[in-house]
Amino acid sequence: MTAAPTTSAQPAGTAVAEAARRRTFAVISHPDAGKSTLTEALALHARVIGQAGAVHGKAGRRGTVSDWMDMEKARGISITSAALQFEYRDAVVNLLDTPGHADFSEDTYRVLTAVDAAVMLVDAAKGLEAQTMKLFAVCKHRGIPIVTVINKWDRPGKDALELMDEITERTGLTPTPLTWPVGIAGDFRGVLDRRDGSFRRFTRTAGGATIAPEELLSAEQAAEREGDVWRQAEEEGELLEATGAEHDQESFLGGVTTPVLFASAVSNFGVGALLDVLVDLAPPPVGRPDADGAVRGLDEPFSAFVFKVQSGMDAAHRDRLAYIRICSGVFERGMVVTHGRTRRPFATKYAQQVFGRERESVDLAYPGDVVGLVNANALGVGDSLYADRPVTFPPLTTFAPEHFAVVRSRETAKHKQFRKGIEQLDSEGVVQVLRSERRGDGSPVLAVVGPMQFEVATHRMEHEFNAPVALDRLPYTIAMRTDEASLPLIASSGGVEVVQRTDGELLALFPDKWALRMLQQRHTALTLEPLVAAQ
Ligand code: G4P
Repeated sequence: MTAAPTTSAQPAGTAVAEAARRRTFAVISHPDAGKSTLTEALALHARVIGQAGAVHGKAGRRGTVSDWMDMEKARGISITSAALQFEYRDAVVNLLDTPGHADFSEDTYRVLTAVDAAVMLVDAAKGLEAQTMKLFAVCKHRGIPIVTVINKWDRPGKDALELMDEITERTGLTPTPLTWPVGIAGDFRGVLDRRDGSFRRFTRTAGGATIAPEELLSAEQAAEREGDVWRQAEEEGELLEATGAEHDQESFLGGVTTPVLFASAVSNFGVGALLDVLVDLAPPPVGRPDADGAVRGLDEPFSAFVFKVQSGMDAAHRDRLAYIRICSGVFERGMVVTHGRTRRPFATKYAQQVFGRERESVDLAYPGDVVGLVNANALGVGDSLYADRPVTFPPLTTFAPEHFAVVRSRETAKHKQFRKGIEQLDSEGVVQVLRSERRGDGSPVLAVVGPMQFEVATHRMEHEFNAPVALDRLPYTIAMRTDEASLPLIASSGGVEVVQRTDGELLALFPDKWALRMLQQRHTALTLEPLVAAQ
């Protein structure tokens, strides 16, 4: 391997200055709330794409793994499979993709470890739905500030004040609307901008294909034009003021309040306002604590962690991409860094931004940015990379699996491919692989949060690794962390099995909570701790 720079040739202070311009966030929502539509509208606003796809809809893109890949195919626009980066005003915005289906919430959780803020997208008619609440809980747990967007105001929906109550009651956050709708849901006239009292009038464009021109009117002009509807918005605005629903930056960053915007993503209305809010209010990257809690400052040498690994994107090349989020320093393509887990050098010659099927080399990147490393076979989810001074970032939490199945090769001659495939799926975090002496290496247990992960694993084993597999579901639903000392007692009770996860964790598997409770009551000294629940 040729010697390459490990220290950045960039002037001192570059990483800090560039980080200050970064806004790295993800959209959390329930399927169908309009995440893809909003993403497209954001890209349109930032002029990444010229025109939003003529088809706003799901036809032809009911993907299971990556919504964006399918969306890109269906609409002919370019979006990376992990992050969309664009410049807006003087900021660089990184929008990270989160899988929509609840079965992939573990993936989404990992993406949320790589963002500095989240946009909670709410369907005006449905309010806070199940998946939104789960993802909100993850953000809360991680202390990620949340901007709320009430979407689809152009369609009949709930009352705006009622929605604010719902946010307060169900999330504990105090909503601080920055805009307030003029006209009830389904009669969207525009928004009252609570920061200056002006009226931003909503104008439709054909199919919402271009940036909706927002007409800016004064309060007097608005009153003249919209009459009672405007006055009602003003009255509700006063009501909000009286209840203290005003934006306060510290409370927002501290996870006490959430700024709220009203929008119609499909008509591209309110999207520019959201970008402005992200640039003006969302936090830039800050130094990240390592596994011991010591903060690695932005200006320290390069460091990053892998938050997502994706294989088989390009069938012709069989490549494996590891996506890293940069935490400190400057990333320069070609630099040789150290892979924290193996302590081996890792060459970053093939650093790319992946735009659908097109790939572009990334020459420089800064804290907050996402870079795809090609053919990164050694890298697994949660791994750290660094230059100069070693750092290990805290391991990414693995969720408590709820579904279990024994996997075995359908073709005995293919045991090599079988082993390789299982190992890879494990390191990518597609499934958790659990082993025990009793089951042997040829038939480990796969554990997942959502059963759709089984489908992905089976499909990839057959098509990517050429090792067709059969799965036999096991009757367990609960995994608890245990230790060596507790093993003999647990093993002697019927219906319970102990297995070991690749990270060394010993897990006891129970069919249901009653079986667990019974064992706990019988032997109070046993170590049986819950794993992090898939929020
Ligand atoms: P998702 O990624 O969150 O799953 O949602 P997606 O963007 O695919 O949007 C889901 C549906 O909601 C799409 O319609 C989309 O056009 C629609 N939609 C998104 N934003 C808005 C909005 O602001 N107003 C209105 N009225 N609709 C919006 P679809 O799949 O074609 O279904 P349909 O409901 O149009 O039949």
